[in-house]
Amino acid sequence: MSNGTAAALLFRDMVTGKENKFEKLYTPSRFYAHPSLKNFLVQNANVVGQLIKGKLDSPNTKPEDLAKGEGAVITLDGHRKGAYRDDDGKVHIVDTTCTHIGCEVEWNNGDKTWDCPCHGSRFKFTGEVIEGPAEKPLQKYDYTMMDNLTSEDSGY
Ligand code: FES
Repeated sequence: MSNGTAAALLFRDMVTGKENKFEKLYTPSRFYAHPSLKNFLVQNANVVGQLIKGKLDSPNTKPEDLAKGEGAVITLDGHRKGAYRDDDGKVHIVDTTCTHIGCEVEWNNGDKTWDCPCHGSRFKFTGEVIEGPAEKPLQKYDYTMMDNLTSEDSGY
Protein backbone atom coordinates (compact mmCIF):
# COMPACT_ATOMS: atom_id res chain seq x y z
CA MET A 1 0.00 0.00 0.00
CA SER A 2 2.82 2.40 0.85
CA ASN A 3 4.52 1.52 -2.47
CA GLY A 4 1.37 2.64 -4.27
CA THR A 5 1.53 6.02 -2.55
CA ALA A 6 5.25 6.32 -3.28
CA ALA A 7 4.64 5.44 -6.93
CA ALA A 8 1.89 8.04 -7.22
CA LEU A 9 4.15 10.74 -5.78
CA LEU A 10 6.96 9.66 -8.08
CA PHE A 11 4.72 9.76 -11.16
CA ARG A 12 3.44 13.18 -10.17
CA ASP A 13 7.02 14.49 -9.92
CA MET A 14 8.04 12.87 -13.21
CA VAL A 15 5.07 14.42 -15.02
CA THR A 16 5.67 17.85 -13.53
CA GLY A 17 9.45 17.64 -14.06
CA LYS A 18 10.20 17.85 -10.36
CA GLU A 19 13.18 15.95 -8.97
CA ASN A 20 12.30 13.04 -6.67
CA LYS A 21 14.88 11.37 -4.38
CA PHE A 22 13.24 7.95 -4.93
CA GLU A 23 13.50 8.04 -8.73
CA LYS A 24 16.72 6.00 -8.86
CA LEU A 25 15.35 3.50 -6.38
CA TYR A 26 12.34 2.70 -8.53
CA THR A 27 13.85 2.97 -12.00
CA PRO A 28 13.48 -0.26 -14.01
CA SER A 29 17.16 -0.13 -14.97
CA ARG A 30 18.32 -0.14 -11.31
CA PHE A 31 19.24 -3.86 -11.43
CA TYR A 32 22.96 -4.37 -11.08
CA ALA A 33 24.28 -7.80 -11.90
CA HIS A 34 27.13 -8.63 -9.55
CA PRO A 35 30.02 -10.35 -11.39
CA SER A 36 29.51 -13.50 -9.31
CA LEU A 37 25.98 -13.79 -10.72
CA LYS A 38 27.39 -15.04 -14.01
CA ASN A 39 29.30 -17.82 -12.24
CA PHE A 40 26.21 -18.69 -10.23
CA LEU A 41 24.10 -18.97 -13.38
CA VAL A 42 26.72 -21.01 -15.23
CA GLN A 43 27.04 -23.45 -12.32
CA ASN A 44 23.30 -23.89 -12.02
CA ALA A 45 22.91 -24.31 -15.77
CA ASN A 46 25.50 -27.08 -15.51
CA VAL A 47 23.53 -28.77 -12.71
CA VAL A 48 20.34 -28.61 -14.76
CA GLY A 49 22.21 -29.99 -17.78
CA GLN A 50 23.59 -32.88 -15.74
CA LEU A 51 20.17 -33.55 -14.26
CA ILE A 52 18.52 -33.77 -17.67
CA LYS A 53 21.37 -35.69 -19.29
CA GLY A 54 21.30 -38.31 -16.53
CA LYS A 55 17.55 -38.80 -16.79
CA LEU A 56 17.71 -39.32 -20.56
CA ASP A 57 20.66 -41.71 -20.50
CA SER A 58 19.72 -45.36 -21.08
CA PRO A 59 22.78 -47.60 -20.95
CA ASN A 60 22.90 -51.01 -22.62
CA THR A 61 25.06 -52.67 -19.94
CA LYS A 62 23.47 -55.48 -17.92
CA PRO A 63 24.61 -56.86 -14.53
CA GLU A 64 25.85 -60.08 -16.11
CA ASP A 65 28.21 -58.04 -18.31
CA LEU A 66 30.23 -56.87 -15.28
CA ALA A 67 33.53 -58.50 -14.42
CA LYS A 68 34.69 -58.77 -10.80
CA GLY A 69 35.74 -55.35 -9.50
CA GLU A 70 33.78 -53.58 -12.23
CA GLY A 71 30.90 -51.15 -11.88
CA ALA A 72 28.67 -49.34 -14.33
CA VAL A 73 25.37 -47.67 -14.87
CA ILE A 74 23.07 -50.38 -16.18
CA THR A 75 19.52 -50.93 -17.27
CA LEU A 76 17.64 -53.35 -15.05
CA ASP A 77 14.01 -54.15 -15.72
CA GLY A 78 13.88 -51.05 -17.91
CA HIS A 79 15.19 -48.75 -15.19
CA ARG A 80 18.53 -46.97 -14.78
CA LYS A 81 20.49 -48.48 -11.88
CA GLY A 82 24.06 -48.62 -10.68
CA ALA A 83 25.74 -52.00 -10.42
CA TYR A 84 29.06 -53.16 -9.01
CA ARG A 85 30.33 -56.74 -8.95
CA ASP A 86 32.64 -57.25 -5.96
CA ASP A 87 35.64 -59.57 -5.84
CA ASP A 88 33.44 -62.42 -4.57
CA GLY A 89 31.15 -62.03 -7.57
CA LYS A 90 28.26 -60.50 -5.63
CA VAL A 91 26.44 -57.78 -7.54
CA HIS A 92 25.45 -54.65 -5.60
CA ILE A 93 22.62 -52.64 -7.14
CA VAL A 94 21.82 -49.04 -6.18
CA ASP A 95 19.45 -46.40 -7.44
CA THR A 96 21.57 -43.88 -9.34
CA THR A 97 19.41 -40.94 -8.30
CA CYS A 98 21.45 -38.79 -5.92
CA THR A 99 19.70 -38.25 -2.61
CA HIS A 100 20.71 -34.58 -2.52
CA ILE A 101 18.67 -33.03 -5.33
CA GLY A 102 18.22 -35.90 -7.75
CA CYS A 103 21.00 -35.78 -10.33
CA GLU A 104 22.22 -39.12 -11.64
CA VAL A 105 25.42 -40.42 -10.09
CA GLU A 106 28.19 -41.82 -12.27
CA TRP A 107 30.56 -44.69 -11.64
CA ASN A 108 34.11 -43.73 -10.61
CA ASN A 109 36.19 -46.77 -11.51
CA GLY A 110 39.36 -45.41 -9.89
CA ASP A 111 37.87 -45.08 -6.40
CA LYS A 112 35.06 -47.63 -6.86
CA THR A 113 32.50 -45.02 -5.86
CA TRP A 114 29.32 -43.45 -7.19
CA ASP A 115 30.00 -39.75 -7.74
CA CYS A 116 27.44 -37.05 -8.35
CA PRO A 117 28.39 -34.57 -11.11
CA CYS A 118 26.11 -31.86 -9.76
CA HIS A 119 27.44 -30.98 -6.30
CA GLY A 120 30.11 -33.60 -5.66
CA SER A 121 28.43 -36.08 -3.33
CA ARG A 122 30.17 -39.44 -3.25
CA PHE A 123 28.79 -42.83 -2.27
CA LYS A 124 30.31 -46.26 -1.59
CA PHE A 125 29.49 -48.97 -4.12
CA THR A 126 26.98 -50.18 -1.55
CA GLY A 127 25.30 -46.75 -1.54
CA GLU A 128 26.45 -45.30 1.80
CA VAL A 129 27.43 -41.64 1.79
CA ILE A 130 31.18 -40.96 1.77
CA GLU A 131 30.95 -37.24 1.22
CA GLY A 132 28.04 -34.74 1.07
CA PRO A 133 26.15 -32.59 0.56
CA ALA A 134 23.92 -35.67 0.27
CA GLU A 135 23.09 -37.04 3.71
CA LYS A 136 21.09 -40.13 2.83
CA PRO A 137 22.49 -43.24 1.15
CA LEU A 138 21.52 -44.35 -2.33
CA GLN A 139 18.65 -46.78 -2.31
CA LYS A 140 19.84 -50.39 -2.52
CA TYR A 141 18.22 -53.24 -4.38
CA ASP A 142 18.60 -56.97 -3.87
CA TYR A 143 19.95 -58.73 -6.87
CA THR A 144 20.36 -62.46 -7.13
CA MET A 145 22.57 -63.52 -9.95
CA MET A 146 20.86 -65.85 -12.35
CA ASP A 147 24.17 -67.27 -13.62
CA ASN A 148 23.61 -70.70 -12.19
CA LEU A 149 20.07 -71.14 -13.38
CA THR A 150 19.46 -73.37 -16.33
CA SER A 151 16.78 -72.58 -18.83
CA GLU A 152 14.58 -75.19 -17.09
CA ASP A 153 15.07 -73.48 -13.69
CA SER A 154 14.02 -70.12 -15.02
CA GLY A 155 10.92 -71.55 -16.68
CA TYR A 156 12.00 -70.74 -20.23
S1 FES B 1 22.35 -33.62 -6.65
FE1 FES B 1 23.61 -32.41 -5.37
S2 FES B 1 25.22 -33.72 -4.85
FE2 FES B 1 23.97 -34.92 -6.09
